[in-house]
Amino acid sequence: MTEMTARRMQPEDLAEGLRLTQAESWSYRLEDWSFHFRLGNGWVACDAGGQVLGTALWWPYGEQFATVGLVVVDRHHQGKGIGLRLMNAVMEDAGGRSLQLVATRAGMRLYEQCGFREHGAICQYQGMATAATLPLQAGTAILGAVTSTDLATIAHWDANAFGTDRTSVLAAVLAGGEGVLASRHGHLAGYALAREAGRGTTIGPVVAEDETLAIEMVARLLQRRSGIIRLDVPADATVLREWLASSGIARIDCAAVMIRGTPTPHRNGARVLGLVSQALT
Ligand SMILES: CC(C)(COP(=O)(O)OP(=O)(O)OC[C@H]1O[C@@H](n2cnc3c(N)ncnc32)[C@H](O)[C@@H]1OP(=O)(O)O)[C@@H](O)C(=O)NCCC(=O)NCCS
Repeated sequence: MTEMTARRMQPEDLAEGLRLTQAESWSYRLEDWSFHFRLGNGWVACDAGGQVLGTALWWPYGEQFATVGLVVVDRHHQGKGIGLRLMNAVMEDAGGRSLQLVATRAGMRLYEQCGFREHGAICQYQGMATAATLPLQAGTAILGAVTSTDLATIAHWDANAFGTDRTSVLAAVLAGGEGVLASRHGHLAGYALAREAGRGTTIGPVVAEDETLAIEMVARLLQRRSGIIRLDVPADATVLREWLASSGIARIDCAAVMIRGTPTPHRNGARVLGLVSQALT
């Protein structure tokens, strides 16, 4: 058993976090670590000399719900109880909140031990898009660019689909990105945001009344972005997934969504069809 302590993550630890995720070939850049760290709470495990051996972060969405991510242990120290120690710190820190995460295969056993159970799956898509914009559905209008003045409206509408308010996350994505809004019959029916992340552009969140509308908004964003595009979409969003694949954005893998406690209630017809990231959901 390696001698080890767990403490709260500090900004100076970000470079070490990056080292750990790079060792796993995750696409996080230092900017992506910083983006996630600023929005949440982190724990690091260290050896007696202060060397960082692992990280785990969590993001509160109000008092009832939180997500967990960036759980990673140094390759040379895996299987020694460090992941469990970090998860215990996160679970205690998060209090009575229900917790949700997207689990790698390597992490599933650890999360099961911690009381998480499978609840659907998320599929990662990545590639260079070749898609053309589809014709708009009758009654749908893409209203164009999202601006900061739209934030309150979007966040209010989004809370019904996501299950809880996430204004600060949406503000952070929008601050470094762009987005499109869609309406039907004069009502907000969807939005999609895009930002630089990982190996190129991440499109997410994508929230829409249906998958066809999501496709229209994603297509609109693809016209404005070049290079590698990434989306993380629910496994049961089959129409969107087929369209992505036919547009040159291929499925990389699918991973289990796991929940400890109860899922957030979804209160209207809109669905979250693209994640901000697997960590933030
Ligand atoms: C998943 C991970 C965080 C677990 O941390 P760890 O310190 O190795 O795990 P622990 O030693 O605390 O072990 C906890 C449980 O997970 C199991 N486990 C650990 N590493 C494992 C692996 N590579 N594959 C399968 N199970 C593993 C252990 O066997 C243990 O279960 P047990 O007590 O029944 O034997 C670590 O292996 C890791 O960083 N993997 C690569 C990154 C990753 O996939 N992170 C998860 C993101 S969701």
